[in-house]
Amino acid sequence: MGPEERRWRGSPTRREALASLAALVAGSPLLSAQRDPAQRAGHHRIPGFAEMRDIFDFEPVFRANVTQAVYDYTAHGADSEFTMRRNRDAFAWVDIVARPAIAPSAVDTRTTVLGLSLDYPLFVAPTALQSALHPDGEVGMRGAAITAKTPYIISNNSSQPAEKIASSSSAGPVWFQFYPRRSLDESRAMLERVQNAGASAVVVTVDQQATTYERTLHLRNLGGSVRGPLPRQGANARNPYRVGDGRLWYEWSYLDRIRPFIAGPMLVKGILTGEDARLCIEHGAQGVIVSNHGGRSLDYGPSTLEVLPEIVDAVAGRVPVLVDSGFRRGSDVMKALALGANAVCLGRATRWGYAAFGPQGAQRVIEMVQAELVASMAAAGRRSLAELDRSAVVTRFD
Ligand SMILES: Cc1cc2nc3c(=O)[nH]c(=O)nc-3n(C[C@H](O)[C@H](O)[C@H](O)COP(=O)(O)O)c2cc1C
Repeated sequence: MGPEERRWRGSPTRREALASLAALVAGSPLLSAQRDPAQRAGHHRIPGFAEMRDIFDFEPVFRANVTQAVYDYTAHGADSEFTMRRNRDAFAWVDIVARPAIAPSAVDTRTTVLGLSLDYPLFVAPTALQSALHPDGEVGMRGAAITAKTPYIISNNSSQPAEKIASSSSAGPVWFQFYPRRSLDESRAMLERVQNAGASAVVVTVDQQATTYERTLHLRNLGGSVRGPLPRQGANARNPYRVGDGRLWYEWSYLDRIRPFIAGPMLVKGILTGEDARLCIEHGAQGVIVSNHGGRSLDYGPSTLEVLPEIVDAVAGRVPVLVDSGFRRGSDVMKALALGANAVCLGRATRWGYAAFGPQGAQRVIEMVQAELVASMAAAGRRSLAELDRSAVVTRFD
């Protein structure tokens, strides 16, 4: 028998081939998936609290715990989300200068911001509607911030009444974020209520004026809007494209008018140029927060890290400069401090932690960033915030 014949005799018959194919199909997950109502392909194990290693570990757990609409509201930004991505990308354009390391125990991160003595230069940024993340709402998130020794800023759009959040504890400092209201009487009434309840400073947010965010919400199905009418502003003859115009009246003189209603410091949030920072101070601000609302306001604007040095220079030490937008790691915080920020506010990171594991999750997020900041400073040989100057980083923004 020659080789050809041997191969022919050894090859499977048509019957054998069909039988093997049938066995393969019978054992295939595709077929069993049709018998089994439980979905297999999409199954992912959700990691537990003890498995959280850095802030990004909290994001998928947060996502698994909330509805699509709640996820979308937190996760997304304006329009093409270029600025939202750029906020993160910018950290890759700043190198940390390596120096002989020191022991983390030798690192001191204490500072004072507007009369508050802080163990770490961190704040919880004001973010709206925290009851969607956890039933304890803002009061629970504030409790986590207090345990982590970090001041909490109440959002003007909180799900629980601002007074309730402010008066829920006297253990830690609390500030109130305020969206300008046209009526001065309403502005005064709101500011009085929340200051009487314990808010010791007011943050006036001035960005997100002509936001096209409605469009983004529509595309991304926030609140089931693709299946029904949009939950917020509707189209009408005057405003056919539904660009939110409720805040298009803002002017600098408004700050002068509300200043007498604020007993403690007034900060202005949403500043992205040195010129505007100067104007804030001229109009009575005791602090500025460099912010693009986490990329939720004007798309194709710069990241906050890129504009921070210009603003620090313009302010020239007259008032503290806080910054937010994209901060997820202690090394991110260290870069902003080196570029001259006095403190950093954490937005989405705290929401991920809170929705993932409740108050202990939010607390862990803050404490991780604190620990990472210490580790970064130790690795870069910087003992204190005073030693953390621009020589600690090299920027490659151009
Ligand atoms: C879901 C969500 C809601 C927010 N709500 C408010 C708000 O009510 N008032 C405000 O001044 N900023 C609000 N912000 C902006 C934050 O204060 C902060 O500027 C931003 O989250 C920082 O970016 P990051 O989330 O990348 O840290 C919100 C941000 C998010 C993500």
